[in-house]
Amino acid sequence: MTATTIATQGQNLAFPDGFVWGAATAAYQIEGAVHEDGRGPSIWDTFSHAPGMVADGHTGDTASDHYHRYKDDVRLMRELGLRAYRFSVAWPRIQPSGSGPANAAGLDFYERLVDELLAADVSPYVTLYHWDLPQVLEDLGGWTNRDTAYRFADYAHAVHERLGDRVGTWMTVNEPWVAAFLGYGIGVHAPGRASPEDAFRASHHLLLAHGLSARALREAGAREIALTLNLAPVVTPGQLNDPELVLSAEDAEAVNRVDCLLNRQFLDPALRGSYPDPVLAIVDRIAGLGHIHDGDLDAISQPIDLLGINYYTPCVVQSGPGEPSNPVYPGTEDILFSGAYAPTTAMGWPIVPTGLSQLLERLTRDYPEVGLLVTENGAAFDDVVTGERVHDADRTAFLESHLRAAHAAIETGTDLRGYLVWSLLDNFEWAEGYHRRFGIVHVDFDTQRRLPKDSALWYRDVIEQNGLRR
Ligand code: NOJ
Repeated sequence: MTATTIATQGQNLAFPDGFVWGAATAAYQIEGAVHEDGRGPSIWDTFSHAPGMVADGHTGDTASDHYHRYKDDVRLMRELGLRAYRFSVAWPRIQPSGSGPANAAGLDFYERLVDELLAADVSPYVTLYHWDLPQVLEDLGGWTNRDTAYRFADYAHAVHERLGDRVGTWMTVNEPWVAAFLGYGIGVHAPGRASPEDAFRASHHLLLAHGLSARALREAGAREIALTLNLAPVVTPGQLNDPELVLSAEDAEAVNRVDCLLNRQFLDPALRGSYPDPVLAIVDRIAGLGHIHDGDLDAISQPIDLLGINYYTPCVVQSGPGEPSNPVYPGTEDILFSGAYAPTTAMGWPIVPTGLSQLLERLTRDYPEVGLLVTENGAAFDDVVTGERVHDADRTAFLESHLRAAHAAIETGTDLRGYLVWSLLDNFEWAEGYHRRFGIVHVDFDTQRRLPKDSALWYRDVIEQNGLRR
């Protein structure tokens, strides 16, 4: 805990005027309706239908049935007082075969959703890529193929053409590290490839897709453009209790190398126009540098207005005899990754709210020119429905402690513009299927009935007060 966090515990905390309170979702995780209105297959349809890839063979075929229930869901958002709703557009609804003219019926759905949100006074925040690549493009190499980045910019332009007069905030790519390293590096996410070389190529092309689409959106007049990254402080176990701890040279090098791969591999190209040297050395060794073309870093470092931060838990590392080969962080075979140092959520992720204040303060220090927005923060717990209620005190405590950490960072000068809970609804949690519930609204997947959990009611009060009260 930082001193500021301790000092503010139990006090009233007011957030800045105009602070954006909201919630987030993603298309494949909630929409269902995978065969409707001309939608084509995505890599997640293929992956979830392949035996053994997702827990219990769950798929997003029906998910939270949001495609049919979006009006009810927007009504819920209004009742909770959300000021913003971050959702993603499914590329395969807009370009079922990955390129060519836009499918009008696909755009119609998002237009109806946006209009419904605006009528409810909820600002739409659009993510353009939340992992559902059209399968046709994967068949041509997916994100390992440079051309996919150009196709993505075309698609971004088509969505903006239809919605640009009503949507102010555009997020290009969500969590490129996860898409590249879990999807192409170890294959626990779609498309299920396990090749560190492919992961590095995918990672660069996802960044290129961000830059090219940001440029296209800017030229088309988009008001606010963002990139959303999964970011985490990288620390040793000792630093969890004592952030001032002086590290051995080996530990300092371990921390720096993993920080470069997880955080700076994306932050530096996007915000500084360069890759950190340790990243280049590892990429060169594993994939060569031939896929990084002249001019790419200029394209990737288009000025953006906001950095979207998805924070869940820190990354804890130590030098030493690590796993013989750590494919999630290629090039880090000599680093130990540890886990059991704090109470965990149902995902097994340690709960460390001070990681959020540390992260925000570090971003403010190292990348001061970009505004910050928490685009995801939240937790899965094993919720129990009791009559008409879900008493998810653990989730409320998680959210409250992270909001206190966010507030502590604001007090030290962080330009944090808003906070979006992950997630509005229980949904398809990727490889974990429906077994992990992140929603502040419970979904009964047999009946599709929605039930706001206690955390949602608590969040409604936070929004109403623009802060926390005790
Ligand atoms: C980040 C991803 O963007 C989201 O899709 C996922 O559900 C959450 N993390 C929780 O794992």
